[in-house]
Amino acid sequence: MSKQNNVMKKNSPLTPRTRPARGCLLFIIGLPLIYYGIFFAFRGPLPSNPQLLAHRGGPAHAPENTIAAFQNAIESGADWIEMDVQQTKDGVLVVIHDETVNRTTDGTGRVEDLTLEQIRALDAGDGELVPTFEEVILLARESGVLILPEAKSPHLYPEIEKNMVETLIANDYEQKAMIQSFEHDSLEIVQKINADINVCPLYGLGTLSLSDPQLGEAKTLCPMAEMIVLNPWMIRQAHTDNRQVFVWFGVIEHPIAMRFMLALGADGLIVDDPGALAEILDR
Ligand code: G3P
Ligand code: CA
Repeated sequence: MSKQNNVMKKNSPLTPRTRPARGCLLFIIGLPLIYYGIFFAFRGPLPSNPQLLAHRGGPAHAPENTIAAFQNAIESGADWIEMDVQQTKDGVLVVIHDETVNRTTDGTGRVEDLTLEQIRALDAGDGELVPTFEEVILLARESGVLILPEAKSPHLYPEIEKNMVETLIANDYEQKAMIQSFEHDSLEIVQKINADINVCPLYGLGTLSLSDPQLGEAKTLCPMAEMIVLNPWMIRQAHTDNRQVFVWFGVIEHPIAMRFMLALGADGLIVDDPGALAEILDR
């Protein structure tokens, strides 16, 4: 009899040994369901026309921040092309992500120490050149695509904000641009130079609240997707303040993550793979 009881105990799904594991599983699944369930109940209406923003032109298809990448992005149906702007030793704005040319070209050195001529001699991948900011604006003008230039490391470059604003105005593209930066002081400078130019402060790892952006005039906020996963109420707060939210991805860009951000109410997604988002948006 006692032997039979032992057998029954081992096979039972609710033995003292399995009960805590089951409770733990229910907690892991149940907590997010309750958390996001409450959010979805109070999320409010979804944006009617979510924007497709090609991050660095879309490095999934061509070398990042090159004319080839921006052309691909436009052909994929991107509403915006995102790019990183830095400044050469001789004061020319160029489109490149890092402070050095080491990772994205066949050369070495800091952008601020190289002249335009030296940078243009480099291969930025597949025979592409590092484009100037003006070249990318001219390409954008051909199709009318909106642009999201990022003032990258602006503390390194004297008057980069003034140069960016002047280049946009000289090419009659200031109304189709929104300047973004992690260095919000730089965006304040942009606003002082020309209050009509839209700016978008970027927020990275560790930012879990957008409720008090330094930049009162910013109509768009650009937080990191991973932080939105932790606190989707940031989107709700921005919408309550009449601001739109363009989300960029740190490491988890995937069609499922894109769909999740759209379901949470993002107004736009800044993505490496514009083709994948175009499919989701049915473009
Ligand atoms: O637009 C957001 C994004 O560009 C920020 O990250 O490092 O790719 O410039 P990063
Ligand atoms: Ca960028």
